[in-house]
Amino acid sequence: MKGVILAGGLGTRLMPLTRATNKHLLPVGREPMLYHPIRQLRAAGITEILVVTSTDHMGDVVRCLGSGQDFGCELTYRVQERPGGIADALGLARGFAAGGRVCVILADNVFQYSIAPYADRFRAQQTGARVLLKLVEEPRHYGVAALDEKHVLEIQEKPEQPPSNYAVVGLYFYDSDVFTHISHLEPSGRGELEITSVNNRYIEAGLLEYDICHGEWTDAGKPNSYQQANELLFAQDNRILEWTP
Ligand code: G1P
Repeated sequence: MKGVILAGGLGTRLMPLTRATNKHLLPVGREPMLYHPIRQLRAAGITEILVVTSTDHMGDVVRCLGSGQDFGCELTYRVQERPGGIADALGLARGFAAGGRVCVILADNVFQYSIAPYADRFRAQQTGARVLLKLVEEPRHYGVAALDEKHVLEIQEKPEQPPSNYAVVGLYFYDSDVFTHISHLEPSGRGELEITSVNNRYIEAGLLEYDICHGEWTDAGKPNSYQQANELLFAQDNRILEWTP
């Protein structure tokens, strides 16, 4: 399985920190934010990784990460010309994926524990997709899952009236059908191709599985959650911890 790190977007919710730089180059704990998803993928045994970012910041991102040899992985880069949404950015990974499965991580998502157990469960899954859910206090900032005891019934993107408190974390596992699903998407109300629409297509096909995220998780995209991400990674010295039941 290959990895895809999505590091595009304008980072407007963190202005003015993002006026001159990409959100994902900001420090979280002792390291640039982008180191965390790379360390996470590496911990899950994924060493071939594509990084997608915008034209404006690609130079700085490459300067920050290089070839990947310092992390024990091999990095490839692709430019997203316009901020067309997460699913649009993922569509750029089609050639890189070369018909195989992908683990996709949003570069501002910070986890207390290793994502390796979820990757292993996806490896054991025959087909389809896998998402990660986390109980949160303010679900309306996220994709939110409507659930029964066994399945995700639907995901709503930033709903005013959330169907549950389970946020969909920015870590997704897909089989090669993901690129066909993306090619059928229409832009949402905010003019973007939404990752939530991709996940809903897998739900309609009966092919979306999920895990509940262990430990703390946050996305570092808003001032409060950025602070939380800093506290979390400082506390563990930016290491990836193993979760033990
Ligand atoms: C994105 C997704 C959302 C998900 C979140 C996790 O939102 O659209 O479904 O819950 O990432 O970080 P964004 O924060 O990019 O607006």
